[in-house]
Amino acid sequence: MREGHSPSIARRLSPSEATDRWTGARHGLPKAYGQADLTVLGIGVMIGAGIFSLAGRQAASMAGPGVILSFMIAGITSLLVAFCFAELSSALPTSGSAYTFTYVIFGEVWAWTVGWALVMELLIATAVVARVWSLYAAQMLTDFGAHFPAPLAELTGRVEGFDLFTLFILVLLTIVVALGARVGLRALWIIVVAKLMAIGAVIVVGATHFDKRNLAAIPAPQARAQAATDTLHSPLLGLLSGHTSAFGWFGIFAASAAITFAYIGFDVVATAAEEAEDAPRSIPKGIIRSLVITTIIYISVAVVMVGMIPYDRIDIEAPLADAFRGAGEGFMVHIINIGAVLGLTTVVLVLLVGLTRVMFSMARDGLFPHRLAKINRSYHSPTRVTLIIGGLAIVLAEFVPVLTLEPLVVIGSLFVFVVVAAGVIRMRRTMPDLPRGFRVPLSPGVPLASIAACLWLLVNLQLITWLYFIAWMAFGVLVYLVYGRRNSVLAGISAAPFDAGIRGRHRR
Ligand code: ALA
Repeated sequence: MREGHSPSIARRLSPSEATDRWTGARHGLPKAYGQADLTVLGIGVMIGAGIFSLAGRQAASMAGPGVILSFMIAGITSLLVAFCFAELSSALPTSGSAYTFTYVIFGEVWAWTVGWALVMELLIATAVVARVWSLYAAQMLTDFGAHFPAPLAELTGRVEGFDLFTLFILVLLTIVVALGARVGLRALWIIVVAKLMAIGAVIVVGATHFDKRNLAAIPAPQARAQAATDTLHSPLLGLLSGHTSAFGWFGIFAASAAITFAYIGFDVVATAAEEAEDAPRSIPKGIIRSLVITTIIYISVAVVMVGMIPYDRIDIEAPLADAFRGAGEGFMVHIINIGAVLGLTTVVLVLLVGLTRVMFSMARDGLFPHRLAKINRSYHSPTRVTLIIGGLAIVLAEFVPVLTLEPLVVIGSLFVFVVVAAGVIRMRRTMPDLPRGFRVPLSPGVPLASIAACLWLLVNLQLITWLYFIAWMAFGVLVYLVYGRRNSVLAGISAAPFDAGIRGRHRR
């Protein structure tokens, strides 16, 4: 039996099996991304609902001007974790990202739980951002003076219930992803540049209306509204410590946890590893560069937003647009609307790409049906799994009040981040000689700090988020026991030579 191929659920992939075995095979993905593309991919997926909608909501309801600190706390945490992703993806450049790292380092059960958490995170994030896209698209058309006939107006730009714009963007982008990475890539570059120009205008014009008195008005901690003080909706930390308040430090930390959503996406860059040129070097650079650029942009926009308008006058529905309208810069409303619609488009696009790569990898390993790991011969893309994911995202976005599920995206990612940071420490010990294109500085200090920072954000999430997450993971373990454990490619290894086993399965 080969190293690591225990018949038990603790079986692990070896690094070479994780990275080499598919090279040149019909299940391999073609190269599509150069160094600059990866940075654009990261910016494309990160800058979206987090800044166009979440920042204002958190400033108005939880942190006041302290939202700037919340962005810094979430940004520093993300940067610590990004170093860990950078090291592991430089050593194991495959499309499964955190899922495959875990498979090699901790074994199949942990890999499955990480994959299962990633599927939840990316699927809900896709549905949430598609919904926010619809809200902005409807607002943009209304602000341009478009009038919809009554039945159409009732089916667009809705927070809940069937929504035509949400359907439109998900169908469109699913088709784009299904047609192959290159088609999406050209569009991505153009849209990311346009989005950055819109955000640049927000920062420059907003800075001319900056009033430092707005930053000085730090609100004192306030008891939270009745609905938010019940046990289920209290942050875990509040329940443990007996303190729950909006604003003050508790508010700032709770906002940091929510704002982690804004940084989600740097981890998605790692899923492009198999399609990237010189992945061991280009992926770490892509992850870190895009995150640093995004962090600077976020903090600048947050400073401008809370500097333009007193926090208690921020409009939760349209924070940025309202601040500029109030400042007499009406034309900026159109720029923000266009920037948001474009920005959110690339977020959905790259989330879909990332999710297809993770599910594709899990299917290739047999933990999901092998049929999902088929590469379409015409488009050189995993078309089948893309269409299934698009369908799932549509169902979720249309029939579930998905905007309320945003914290689940955060908890899923933070769970994955903790495992990845722990993975760096363990892999340094168990595979010290494995070539790495990037090494986390000051290890194990930085991975340990990443774990501590993620745990801190995790305890700032509400109890109800934890309960939903535990239920989802428990369901995942059940699915694994019923399906993945038996169908895993590694489960067949003891009975057949490794390559023959895999090829045999894939021919089905
Ligand atoms: N970070 C992405 C956004 O804010 C998910 O939309």
